[in-house]
Amino acid sequence: MSRNVYLVTGGAGFIGSNYIHFLFERYENVKVVNLDKLTYAGNIENLRDIEENENYIFIKGDICDSEIVRKIFQEHKPDYLINFAAESHVDRSIGNPEDFIRTDMYGVYVLLEASKKFGIKRFIQISTDEVYGSIDKGSFTEESPLMPSNPYSASKSGGDRLAYSYFATYNMPIIITRASNNYGPYQYPEKLIPLFVTNALEDEQLPLYGDGKNIRDWLYVKDHCIAIEFVLHHGKTGEVYNIAGGSEKENIQITRFILELLDKPESLIRYVDDRIGHDRRYSLDSSKLHHLGWQQEHSFDVAMRETVQWYVDHQDWWKPLKSGEYLEFYKKHYPEGMSLT
Ligand SMILES: NC(=O)c1ccc[n+]([C@@H]2O[C@H](COP(=O)([O-])OP(=O)(O)OC[C@H]3O[C@@H](n4cnc5c(N)ncnc54)[C@H](O)[C@@H]3O)[C@@H](O)[C@H]2O)c1
Repeated sequence: MSRNVYLVTGGAGFIGSNYIHFLFERYENVKVVNLDKLTYAGNIENLRDIEENENYIFIKGDICDSEIVRKIFQEHKPDYLINFAAESHVDRSIGNPEDFIRTDMYGVYVLLEASKKFGIKRFIQISTDEVYGSIDKGSFTEESPLMPSNPYSASKSGGDRLAYSYFATYNMPIIITRASNNYGPYQYPEKLIPLFVTNALEDEQLPLYGDGKNIRDWLYVKDHCIAIEFVLHHGKTGEVYNIAGGSEKENIQITRFILELLDKPESLIRYVDDRIGHDRRYSLDSSKLHHLGWQQEHSFDVAMRETVQWYVDHQDWWKPLKSGEYLEFYKKHYPEGMSLT
């Protein structure tokens, strides 16, 4: 049996590195090519344990670079392309949208063009629930209008619809997934859960936006990886699939749960001015994917405990990340004093 070749873009980031680990755990006969620019969010340490694997190839490069992408297609002839590569932090997109528009839109175009030229069996564009914007009641289905409200979600919407257009116009085998907020190992400690866990471990303040009542739906990254693989093999070309975690929580609930798990006081919580244009609630209806046969395998409580424990056990992974450029960003962002030193 010939082995499948996966081109994973953005595979050194949070979800991409979990997905690559997942592929090697699930399949004996697989080759993975990881194209990643290694921005501040990309971390080669996430894949240190597999770097000697002869079926794993890491290429440092930009998805916007059509020359590198062309060479990869010619040399490795991928069967599947899973595009995780993105600028992904909303706060950063508010300060500097340009990189977001470039990677999250133009980069998708470069990958689509190469796939059109050289051929691909499946192209999965990893989009996000944020493309729908905020919803007070009920949940977004795949038919809901896209109402992105910050430069990150707007550029992701552009990439999402561009990918769809290559199905509609060129009949390419495109599938788009829109997942809710992920949590799990290897998440860069600027996102809510790893930021709060690592701050709490260092007895630093937890900067909670606004009144702390913004609601997000939380999806364990391992369930997300399983869903992507499921969609790759069972999804229908040209379709969009929502991937929900089914665990809607207010940010304050998550914060208190983390403090409880780590046995830390609530006095560590510091309320900070709300993010500009902060979406109040995200909620996804993923019945379409359930009807196709996907089932979530992890409960929120258990997976959260495992996640928090992972950060407790891997301080050597996150401590070096909380320095340098990271500190500069947070000093600028929280000038009134979130101390990270
Ligand atoms: N994290 C979430 O909760 C979540 C939820 C739904 C969807 N998503 C989507 O999933 C994808 C992965 O998210 P994540 O949280 O792992 O992000 P991340 O920021 O942790 O990782 C992104 C990766 O992409 C790489 N990258 C950035 N620009 C690149 C470029 N121009 N060329 C090549 N590589 C580049 C980075 O180096 C990094 O390794 C993104 O597309 C994001 O929009 C994330």
